[in-house]
Amino acid sequence: MPYCDGDIVEVIVTQQQIAERIAQLARQITADYQDKQLVLLGVLTGSFVFLSDLIRQLDRPCEVHFLDAASYGNNTVSSGEVTITKELDLALTGKDVLVVEDIVDSGRTVSELVRLLENYRPASVKVCTLLSKTARRERTVELNYVGFEIPDYFVVGYGLDYAQHFRNLPFVAVLDEDAAVTKLNTSE
Ligand code: IMP
Ligand code: MG
Repeated sequence: MPYCDGDIVEVIVTQQQIAERIAQLARQITADYQDKQLVLLGVLTGSFVFLSDLIRQLDRPCEVHFLDAASYGNNTVSSGEVTITKELDLALTGKDVLVVEDIVDSGRTVSELVRLLENYRPASVKVCTLLSKTARRERTVELNYVGFEIPDYFVVGYGLDYAQHFRNLPFVAVLDEDAAVTKLNTSE
């Protein structure tokens, strides 16, 4: 992946590791949701790559929707404020909702979303995240399906961005923030 060579410090989850873990998660979800009305709810934008790979491994009917929750702006540190920028217009009553995230960091986004979703009276709300940075947790959140626990690094790739860039990398990598900031500033 030469285009990002100067911007990343190290690949921490490879393409193959992601593919293998998604196959395992999908088998588990397929088994856990037998006889349930599964609704997958992807959190935009970062989850779109993970969700699209995950659903193609699920061996059962499901609905797929997205909602938009933003807390970062263009920074690598969360503003701490979570806004739901796309209101849900969904019939979730009696359905089994699985929130799909790219990464759970402080836990603010996911805990707010779960709280909001309870208002729609679903049969259940669970959370599936590709990545989790437990060291940075500020809220207690139950994560039902976790792809990988990672250390406290700012990571990009496989859907995760820095200032809307690097989502197209096929792996998860630690960003060299100084290099990336300089490059993005000079390319504008
Ligand atoms: P939380 O509300 O602090 O748990 O943050 C969750 C959101 O912050 C995720 O859905 C990501 O969009 C973003 N985020 C957290 N850590 C990273 C990271 O290392 N790289 C890119 N985005 C991140
Ligand atoms: Mg996100």
